[in-house]
Amino acid sequence: MMKRFALMMALCLAPSAHAEDVAEVWKAKCKSCHGDDGKAKTKMGQKESIVDMSQPAWQQAQTDADIREMIADGSPRNRKMKPYKDKLSPQQLDALVGYIRTMKAK
Ligand code: HEC
Repeated sequence: MMKRFALMMALCLAPSAHAEDVAEVWKAKCKSCHGDDGKAKTKMGQKESIVDMSQPAWQQAQTDADIREMIADGSPRNRKMKPYKDKLSPQQLDALVGYIRTMKAK
C-alpha cells in the first residue's frame, strides 16, 4: 500500500517538476521575444514579424526536429534568433520542443 502510494507520488511529481524547469527556461531565455504564450506579441515580435507559435497551421507544418534545430542552431534567415546549443543542454532543447507543443491553440 505504501509502495503504491510512493510510486503514485513519484509519477505525479516528476512531470510537474520537469514542466516548471522548462517554463523557467522559457521565461528567462525566450519570452522576451516570443512572449509568455509563444504568440510573439512583443516589441521584438512585431519588429521581426515573429510567427505566432500557437497557430495550429504552424504547429502542423513543423516537425519536432525542425523546432529543435531552430533552437539549437538559430535561424538561417534572421540572426536575432540565436543558436542555443551551447547555452542549453540537449535535455533542455527537447523540453523546449515539448513546451512549444503545449502552446498550440485549441
Ligand atoms: C532576441 C529575440 C529572440 C529570443 C530571445 C528567442 N528568439 Fe526564437 N526567434 C526570434 C526571431 C526573430 C525568429 C524568427 C526567425 C525567422 O524568421 O527566421 C525566431 C524564431 C524561432 C522559432 C521558429 C519560428 C518559425 O519562424 O518557424 C523557434 C522554434 C524559436 N524561435 C524558438 C525560440 C526559443 C525556444 C527560444 C529560447 C530558448 C527563443 N526562440 C529565443 C527571436 C528570438
